[in-house]
Amino acid sequence: MKPRHAIRLLALALVAAQAASAAAEGDAASGQALFESDWVTAPSSADASGGLGPLYAARSCAGCHAGPALSGRFTEAPDRRIASRGLVLRFADGAGNPDPVYGHALQSQAAAGMTPEGRAVLTASTAALRGYVLSLHLDRGALDAETQQSPRLAPPLLGRAALERIDIAAVLTRADPDDRDGDGISGRAAMIATESGEVLGRYGWKAEIATLKEQIADAFALDMGLSSARRPRPYGDCTPRQADCLAAAGSGSSLGDHEVTEAAIESVAAYLESLPLREPPSGASTGARLFTGAGCAACHVPSLPTQDGETVAAFTDLLLHDMGPDLDDGVGAPGVASAEWRTAPLIAMQPTGGRRYMHDGRAATIDAAIRAHAGEAATARARYMALSEAERASLAAFVSAL
Ligand code: HEC
Ligand code: HEC
Repeated sequence: MKPRHAIRLLALALVAAQAASAAAEGDAASGQALFESDWVTAPSSADASGGLGPLYAARSCAGCHAGPALSGRFTEAPDRRIASRGLVLRFADGAGNPDPVYGHALQSQAAAGMTPEGRAVLTASTAALRGYVLSLHLDRGALDAETQQSPRLAPPLLGRAALERIDIAAVLTRADPDDRDGDGISGRAAMIATESGEVLGRYGWKAEIATLKEQIADAFALDMGLSSARRPRPYGDCTPRQADCLAAAGSGSSLGDHEVTEAAIESVAAYLESLPLREPPSGASTGARLFTGAGCAACHVPSLPTQDGETVAAFTDLLLHDMGPDLDDGVGAPGVASAEWRTAPLIAMQPTGGRRYMHDGRAATIDAAIRAHAGEAATARARYMALSEAERASLAAFVSAL
């Protein structure tokens, strides 16, 4: 090839690359707008069923994922609704079946003229282990006898998109469901059956969702009552026993005309991908050494490879672990027992601005979070407890810098 040609091709390639990255930026910006803006319930015309609700927990993603790290914290909420404080109340039995009336989660808001499902009021307190009290007032009858409740903290979303890039092979080789190596830790991969075969569950406290886009579609549907091609029901979390909700949703969206387009889901995904995972602190500090020595890194694996040779330093093995009876709230998910939880990625751990820890936000400090570990993590907890006070502080300081 003549050099002039090559230069011209290079220039064209550069222009194309710039255009592509500008498009990605534009996409992330519109994704951020979609993430932050309040959706509204449709006006009450017959087919305007689309839109927020009829029952919903929050008007926007940012309604629950608030603050600099996009949550992981209890925020101030004058309206006293738990969603606006960054908590969702999930309902299910041990096998993950939703409540026959209330469905998968408490929807504390409703379109005009409709009764919301109720409200859960959160009283924050500073008690070390169970740091708050939640009182539930239901306005649509009692929960089913089998239904249990599981408060779930909205995790910080910084860097979470990267969980999708972790090489599945690296996760599967760490799984040890029968604890053959006898270390007391028997991580299990959360495999989800789909039409195209089994996929690895990566998202949610129970790893019940495989991909970022599925997680986004799920949030639009379950938390906000917004349908998409991935979640076509226009009435979100309404159940057959909530006739008023089904009627308000109408059937206008059944022709594939959804409230949220796939392009919108892609933009929100691009926004989340633009939120970087922070560089982990040096692994050579005393705190880092104690973290590994206590056995924390057996589950909170500092980094895992991607398929294209990069690494994701998210301090998780993405596996499910039985965390013992105290963290077992009786709410299962399909294929995931109620005592099992995905190793929480240690991301945006700074204990400031109302940051809370563990799936239900019970712990207000890293120390309280570690003390709440049991089950497969009992040995690690015991090793932590056996450290001197100064060593415990240095381990916690390492974690809080992640
Ligand atoms: C009503 C509150 C609420 C709203 C609204 C909400 N979320 Fe969440 N989000 C949560 C909670 C709670 C979880 C943890 C759920 C679980 O695991 O059971 C979560 C989990 C996630 C996760 C998975 C994080 C991880 O580590 O696996 C992502 C990504 C996410 N939300 C993005 C979004 C996006 C995007 C929107 C808007 C389309 C949104 N959320 C709307 C409360 C909310
Ligand atoms: C057997 C696996 C396992 C071991 C060992 C383990 N953890 Fe965890 N860790 C988990 C799981 C699973 C969760 C989520 C549990 C929940 O939310 O109910 C978690 C949650 C956490 C959290 C809260 C994260 C958040 O975002 O809320 C912190 C902090 C933490 N672990 C630190 C540690 C430290 C420090 C050690 C070592 C002393 C340790 N863990 C050992 C599995 C483990």
